[in-house]
This record gives sequence, structure tokens and C-alpha cells, in this order.
Amino acid sequence: MAPSASTKKKRAIFIGIGVTLMLVVIIVPISIELSQEKNEPRSTINNRIECFPFKNMTSDTCTKAGCLWEVVSGQPSCFLPDTSVYGYEVNGPVTNIPNNKGFSVDLRRRRSADGTPLFSLYGNDVDEITFEVNYHTDNSLGMAFYPKGANRDQLRPPVAITVPSATITNQRYEAKLVNTGIGEPFNFQIIRKSSGVVIFDTSMGGLTVSKQFLMISTTLPSEYLYGFGENTHDTFLHDMNYRMWPIFTRDISPIDEDVNLYGAHPFYMVCENDGSSHGVFFYNSHSIDVTTMPNPGITLRTIGGMLEFFVFLGPEPESVVKQYSDVIGRTFMPPYFALGFQLSRWGYKNTGEIQQVIDRTRAVQIPHDIQYADIDYMDGRRDFTIDPVNFGDLPALVDEVKKGGLRFVIILDPAIANDYETYERGVALSVYAEWANETLKPDDQPTENNIIIGNVWPDNKTAFPDFFRDSTKQWWTEEIRLFYERLKFDALWIDMNEVANFDTNQYSDKLYCPPNQWDDPPYETMAAHTGPTNRLSDKTICMVAKFGEKNDERLNYEVHNLYGYSQSIVTQEAARQVLTGKRSMILSRSTFAGSGKYTGHWLGDNFSNWKNMADSIIGMMEFNMFGMPYIGADICGFVLNTTEELCERWMEIGAFYPFSRNHNVKDAIDQDPGVWPDTVAASGRKALNIRYRLLPYLYTLFYDSHTTGSTVVRPLYHEFSQDRKARSIDKQFMWGPALLISPVLQEGKVSVDVYIPVDVWYDYYTGIRVTVLGSTTLSAPRDHINLHLRGGYILPAQKPDLNTMLSRQNNFELLVPLNDQNSASGKMFWDDGESVNTIEDGLYQINKFELSNNVLTITVEKESASSWPGIVQKLDTIEFMGWPSPPLKITVQSNVAEDIIIIDSDKYFYVAESKRLTLLYEFDMNQSYTVKFE
Ligand code: NOJ
Repeated sequence: MAPSASTKKKRAIFIGIGVTLMLVVIIVPISIELSQEKNEPRSTINNRIECFPFKNMTSDTCTKAGCLWEVVSGQPSCFLPDTSVYGYEVNGPVTNIPNNKGFSVDLRRRRSADGTPLFSLYGNDVDEITFEVNYHTDNSLGMAFYPKGANRDQLRPPVAITVPSATITNQRYEAKLVNTGIGEPFNFQIIRKSSGVVIFDTSMGGLTVSKQFLMISTTLPSEYLYGFGENTHDTFLHDMNYRMWPIFTRDISPIDEDVNLYGAHPFYMVCENDGSSHGVFFYNSHSIDVTTMPNPGITLRTIGGMLEFFVFLGPEPESVVKQYSDVIGRTFMPPYFALGFQLSRWGYKNTGEIQQVIDRTRAVQIPHDIQYADIDYMDGRRDFTIDPVNFGDLPALVDEVKKGGLRFVIILDPAIANDYETYERGVALSVYAEWANETLKPDDQPTENNIIIGNVWPDNKTAFPDFFRDSTKQWWTEEIRLFYERLKFDALWIDMNEVANFDTNQYSDKLYCPPNQWDDPPYETMAAHTGPTNRLSDKTICMVAKFGEKNDERLNYEVHNLYGYSQSIVTQEAARQVLTGKRSMILSRSTFAGSGKYTGHWLGDNFSNWKNMADSIIGMMEFNMFGMPYIGADICGFVLNTTEELCERWMEIGAFYPFSRNHNVKDAIDQDPGVWPDTVAASGRKALNIRYRLLPYLYTLFYDSHTTGSTVVRPLYHEFSQDRKARSIDKQFMWGPALLISPVLQEGKVSVDVYIPVDVWYDYYTGIRVTVLGSTTLSAPRDHINLHLRGGYILPAQKPDLNTMLSRQNNFELLVPLNDQNSASGKMFWDDGESVNTIEDGLYQINKFELSNNVLTITVEKESASSWPGIVQKLDTIEFMGWPSPPLKITVQSNVAEDIIIIDSDKYFYVAESKRLTLLYEFDMNQSYTVKFE
């Protein structure tokens, strides 16, 4: 859009003021003139790129710095001029990469008439850079801006990714360098060929490449923007009104402010107006700021590395996530028990209290698969120790409860107290993060070595293992192995790995992190403004810590966001070695793009309030988009005392978190469901029994995620992207394509306002088809969570039980909600639920189910390799919903017998009011069948 005449006039005035005191005084107006002849100048409303986000600028300081100043309500006042005077220009011919794999072009900073570069925002801009575009597949491409001749690997995060590669046969996008003439402003677009929609567009300018400040802006084709994290987002669909979010891992509760939380996921998705979607991954591990713009657009700022992106064209939202997972890796396959309900709290005083909670839970018949021990079990809160007084009998309890099928998970923190053998063994193997430069060491640090010493939970000071080193991997695995000899845990919970270090910079007149260019970069990012002392190092270790092997050292400044990620890799490998052959589960608080391959995540130290319960849906949907479907929030809330009603409702929604755990802070009242037998436990039991019944469906969704990258928890947007209303729904969520969950999220409410997109839906409980679609209100008494099944999908189910060891021995069921063609289909993945690599080794079975033309086929699509005995239980119940009229005859034929069996009419029931048909017949899951309805 061209600026209005009055805007143009005002801008000229701002520049006039700005340049009077600058070197660029004469050339700027000339450049503007030139640009107005050659280029469409950008509008300065709704796409302003702010010049100095955290500085209190005035008209004077702003224009002196070369920027434009104009006060307009709701817009940044100090903003960048357009590409005629700022950014980069073409500085060479376009070089094509052979086999139609992309192109590169050299760029240099915009120049004045005398050839000198124009102004810089934070100094040290790189004058000559290369822009390279790589066509990876027909649906995905990469692009990078790097200093000419630079070694790109040194600028990339040490995170293993896979660059997809395929012959380009039917390229779905055009990557267009808009200006190709030498000296013309850089302007790049990615266009979706099928619709002509421009999905990436740098024409608004702002491109900056310096060592410590990098920035890029793109116009977006619609305002349907999702993703980026980890932050608390009030809405799933982002506010485009110049909202800024920091990405920098930190130990901080999800307070009601736009702060950076535990993980770093620089990935976004956009739903274009026609429902096609694309995604963009910013492959950078530094502190990043994301700013939205109403135009709509976004600006990304970071403080190191490279501007390097992967773009995924989808076009379905699920395809975007799958294409993203091609790059960052697919999610780990959780053991079956990890899909069960889990109980935890911080503040158990002794083993006896843990036993009481287990008993209380059993007494109210709540399914219970995992019990946790938080840092309380440790001796002085030191990893790999057990408090001999209060928890000396914990190993015995673990052995005992495991007999009944309960599993046990312990917490581990990365920070190691510097006063015991584990620490000493680490010193011997040189596993701890060190000061990059001895001169930067504050006075209170040990003189005898360079190890960074901080303060976390242990009674004494702590050191921080560097999980990028091989020696650390060896040491950590050995410590885990030694501890396993004492206590037979089943999985590991790794906490505080942002990495958290308490009180940094706070309680001394001397800064813990001495001033230096890394701890105090020219552009500090928003993360430096969200901590107690306005420094990046707040609540963590200094940016000048060094990590990595001697020949590949990186500053914490570069890899801070990867602490939890690197620990997750090492911990998963360690657990695999120690729990020989058994699949474990790792739960990490801090995560990065690709963490889903190694670990699950919980949404951190939430509050026991209604808003945080509602926010958990947004968090879950985002982490599924980030390739981390094993996700959930602390049920009933962590910080503060919960209430009976909140906890009851939270148990209901939490029964549908992929990771379903009730966890609580120290000193808060007990909130395990057994505390309130008639309310929280009764409603929790009802919801959890449905969860356990549907676990085969959930497990199959995880199999799909592990093998294809699809999501498990899914926003309505992913299934109904053409439906504009569905794109913003964030108070409901789906399990895969077939189950819609609509929880009550408000206090005192016994009804819930929902949105049911146009399709065939059935009430889970009654089997009755939904007649009112769109926005509607449903009844939701305290013990009821609304669930709807989508017509056309067959869900495998199993009779529930008190844990998965028991439920896995029960018979299977099928839920068959019909679509308007009276058909439906689905499948079930099944294996032994706990061995490693069952999928890779073929030790699993897949059964397919297909209903059409009154014939249901049950097919063993993939038999298991011989060393797993296969499925021993029967399928004994099939429940059809929306069945048009009672069948007169049902016959069954198995692939192993010639006879056709006529099913006795007392083995099936038809309820005319609900159109529900229930068939009770025993099918052997290792045979294939044809079931005919006449
Ligand atoms: C912080 C974690 O987020 C929380 O879940 C845990 O209970 C405490 N640390 C104590 O370990």
C-alpha cells in the first residue's frame, strides 16, 4: 500500500530533522527520491519497525540515530526508514544452484551516493553478505543470510537437524528476488504458486546483519498467526497489534505478562485466507524477540548466529507440522504406562506420605500409573542421594508398588552440589561449565579451577554440568546407573534445566556476571527486561560461561537455549542404557526445537487458578505444533492452594492431557483426588475411565506422530482450516481428528459455550448425533466433560482398569461413529508397550478397520515379527453410532475359516432413539474378518 500524501509529507519532515545532525545529511533525501521512482515506498502505519525497542527515544535522539519519528497512537514513534536508505542492496549476479536447487546472490549494505554504507542501529553491521535460497523439496525450502565467505556451521546452533532433500518435480512455490539490478534494494518473496499468495515478503525492509544484532521483517498474507514459544499466550491466534514476545529459556512461572518461559521454539504457522497453511522455523539458538505488526507482519530480532530459515508450504496445517518434523526430528514413542494418570507433589515429608497418597488414590478407585518423588527424597537436595532419615525406605516402597503395576519416577536437577562424590567424579572427568575467560571470574568463585559455581536447591553451592561434552555423558550415565542400583525408577524427570541459577546479580553490590559484551550486548532483547535485574543472566548463569568440547567451544550466549535440550539427549541415552531394553520416558522443563525426539514437557509452575487451566489448552496445542505432543500442565495447578471445584474441573480436562499429572507446590494443601472422594475423585474417575478406555486410540496417535510427525492434541483449526471461526478456537481441543473435548473453564458454570464445526458429530456418552452445529451452549454439570466423536472415524478402545498393566489385559472395543455416507475407518497400533525400538524392529501389529456399504472389515494389516507374541486379548464390543435402522442379520467370516457365522440376534442391540447399534462378538485380533449387516 502506498503511503498517503500526508504520510509522505510527514516522513519527509522527520527525515529532514533526523539528518541535519548526521553524516548522511545530504544523501538521505536523494535516496528517498530515488526509491520513490523505483520502488513502492512502504506505508508507515501498521508496519513500523521500531528502531530501539527498549530505549526511551525522543524525537531528537530518534532522528539523530537516523530513524523516523512520528507520534501516532498505537504505533511505535521511532521507526526505520524504508529500503531506500536502510538494509541491503543487490551486489552481484544471481547464481543458480545446479539441478534447480535454488540460488544465491551477494548483497551489501545500502549506500550513499559516495559509496559509504548508510546508518547502523547498533553498530558493527556486516557490509557484505550472501543470501542463499535452497529448494529442499517441492514443499519446503531454506534461506540464509550470512557474512560473505563465512563458515556457516560456526554460526549455526549445535542442534542436529535433517535438511530434507528431494528432486524438485512440481515446485509449489516461487522464490523470487524482486529486484535483481546491482544497487537495487534487496527484496525477496516466496509465493505459493497455486494461489499466488505471497507468504514471505521482505519489502517492508529492516534487514540487519551484524555480529550481535540481526533483524528481519516479513509481511504475512493473513492475520492468522500461531506459534512461537515458550510464552504464555492469552490466545492461540496471536494478537497482531505490535505485541512483542521474548524467546529465551528461563525458570519463571507463567505469569500474566509477556515473559520468556522455559523453552525456545522459534517456529510459527500462518493460515492463509483460503485455509492453506505454511510454517517457518528460525534456526537460531540465541535470545530472540518476536514482534507482531497489524499490517499484518512480524519482525524477528536476535543477537547472534545467522538469519536462517526453513519454510514449509503444507498446505494442510498437519502437513506443515509434519514437514517441520522432517527437519527437527520426530517425537519419541512413549511407553504405554506413560499415557496413564500420574501423581506428584513437592513436599512429601517422608515415604509414609507417598504410601498414604497411593492408598488414598486406590481407595477412590482412580486409575494410577505413575507416582513421583520430587527433590524431597534427596539428601540435602543432592542428585543421586536419598535422605536416610525420611526416605531411607523409599527403594523398598518402589519395589513393592511396582508389583501391582505402578511405576515410579524421580526428579533430577542439573545443578550438582560441590560437596560430595558425584561432584568430585564430575571434576575428575571435567564435566562442568567453566568461565570462558579467567579475568571475567567474579571474586566469589573458586580460585583453584575455572568451574562456574552458583546456587540452586542443594544446601551447598552448585556446579552446572556441560551436557555438550562426551565426558559429561559418560559421567551422567554412570551416576544414573549407580543410583538405579539403589532405586528402581522407571523414568526420569529433569527439572531446572534452563539452566536455573538463583539470585544471579541480585544480592551483592557486585554484579555476579561482570559487565562484558555478551552479558550486556548492544541490543539486550526483551528477555533482559523480564528478569529482576534486567540482564540476560537473570536467574541463570553468565553469558560468558563456556560449553562444548575443546575444539568446538560455544559461549552460553550462543547455546543458553539449548541447555535443557542437550541434557534431554544425554538423559534419554542414559536411561536407555540403564533400563536395558525398556523404553523410558524423560520429562524436561526446558526444551528447544527438536526436543520432542527425546522428551516430553509439562507447562511449568502454573498457578491454581481458572485462567491457567484455560491457558493449558493453548500451551498444549502450541507444543504439538512444536513437535512435542507428550505435553500437559500440572493438574489442579502448582503454585497456590487449589479449590475443590477448580481441582474437579481440572481433573476432567487433565484426563485429556497427553501427559496427565496432578502436581503441587511445597506447602500448598494436598490436591490428589483422594482428598475429595465425592467430588474431585468421582468426576476424575469418570473422566479417567474414559481416558483409559480410549488409550489404544491415544497410543495410535502417538505412533502416527512418531512415524509421520502428526499432532496428537490438535486445534480445531488443523481439521477445519477453511472455517474461519474454527481458526481461533482455543477453549476446546481435539485428540487427533476424531475426538472433540470441550471442558468447563469457568468457576461456577454448569454449561459450556462451544463451537462445533459443520460435520457429523455424536455425543460420546449418549451416542446421539449433534443437531445444533456452530456456536452453541451445552449442559455441563460438575461431573461432566463434554466429548464428541466425529463421524467417519473408527476409534480403537479397551476396557479401562486401575492402571495400564491391568487395562492392557482387558478386551478391546471399537467405537464407530458413522459419517453421512454411513462409512468410517480407523486403525490400531499395538506392541508390548515398553520395549525400545519396537517400531524399528517390526515388533508391533497394526489392525485396520473399514466400514462401508454395510460391510465392516477388520484386517491385520501388519503382523508382528515373531519375537513378540502378538495381541492376546479379544475384541468383544463394537459400538456404532448413527446406524440408520436395526439390522436383520449380521454375519461374520474370518480369514482362517471357510464358514460364515450368523451372529445370534441376542448379541446385538439397536436403540432407535439414539441410533446406536452395539455388537457383542469375540473377534481374535490376529485374524481378519468381514462382518456383513443386512
Ligand atoms: C520446579 C519445578 O517446576 C516443580 O515442578 C518442582 O516441584 C520444583 N522445581 C521442585 O523440584
